[in-house]
Amino acid sequence: MPRNGDIGSLTPAHPAAPAPPRLLELHRPNADAMRAELLAGLAAPTATIAPKYFYDPLGARLFAAITELPEYYPTRTEASIFAAHLPAIADAYGLPGCTLIDLGAGNCEKAARLFPALRPAAYVALDIAVEYLTTSLECLQREFPSMKILGVGTDFTRSLALPDEVTHARRLFFYPGSSIGNFTPAEALAFLQRVRAAMAGDGALLIGVDLVKDARVLEAAYDDALGVTAAFNLNVLNHVNHLIGADFHTADWRHVAFYDPEQQRIEMHLQAHQAVTVRFNGGARRFARGERIHTENSYKYTPAQFAAVLRDAGFQAQHHWTDERDWFALFLASAQ
Ligand SMILES: C[S@@+](CC[C@H](N)C(=O)[O-])C[C@H]1O[C@@H](n2cnc3c(N)ncnc32)[C@H](O)[C@@H]1O
Repeated sequence: MPRNGDIGSLTPAHPAAPAPPRLLELHRPNADAMRAELLAGLAAPTATIAPKYFYDPLGARLFAAITELPEYYPTRTEASIFAAHLPAIADAYGLPGCTLIDLGAGNCEKAARLFPALRPAAYVALDIAVEYLTTSLECLQREFPSMKILGVGTDFTRSLALPDEVTHARRLFFYPGSSIGNFTPAEALAFLQRVRAAMAGDGALLIGVDLVKDARVLEAAYDDALGVTAAFNLNVLNHVNHLIGADFHTADWRHVAFYDPEQQRIEMHLQAHQAVTVRFNGGARRFARGERIHTENSYKYTPAQFAAVLRDAGFQAQHHWTDERDWFALFLASAQ
């Protein structure tokens, strides 16, 4: 049962004049921590920039554009699985009335599509990109004036602790879009163990997982003909310039994406067209012609592999649904 002051017990806003949703900032890295992480990545033998740095306001909008591309099947395929099975999933698993906790909410569109079937008692949207989340939640509150909405600006890789007002009872964690693939399998297991620990016995996880498939389909999805994914990848350099005072020029770099079947992962990199020295507050790095910065992995699973990860993470019961081509899977795993 929600405790007094839980967000499940707040009075709904008046439909005609919804109050703007509240946004709390919890575990966002401070400027020093981000700087230290970015400098360490740029100093590594193979330079890296973590994928969470893609999401400045332009990066968040470019990702939304990627989901509209003909080559980018994950969003559409996941939506088709929801369209075919959501009412059954919701009823069979008693999801209506849950507190829906969105891990990396972005534009919140996916969660909004669940509202009619799940009728959540409250929606808690987590994202590291706070400006974009604020705009998304304001639109969402106008669309659903009586929905209890709380935004949480946080880096959920640092902590999954939620404000006290979010009830522990009936938490449904929602992690769509196959973002779990950005972790290595060992990191994914550790993260899912933490998600399991953040729910009580009646909690559950609804998660999208991209499946192993033909490399040509995978590579086209991460290297589209219009170059939107290339722009998304290159834009991380603008964000890094902003964060650590670097002088990356996007024109010096090109987008590279390929599938490694051994590791079952797409790798995205930025490759230097020619030798270039990049300066930033606190240092500099010279990149040779053709040298790369590794910006993202996106691991693909078979359904059996991912079912094993969920079991190892401590989830007791699970079910999954796929599309007719077996390109994508939606897993529902319950804590007990
Ligand atoms: C690939 S987008 C997915 C957005 C949406 N959930 C979807 O499936 O279309 C990833 C989202 O997660 C957020 N994100 C990435 N890393 C994060 C982190 N460590 N902590 C919190 N949010 C993160 C990004 O800002 C972005 O909005």
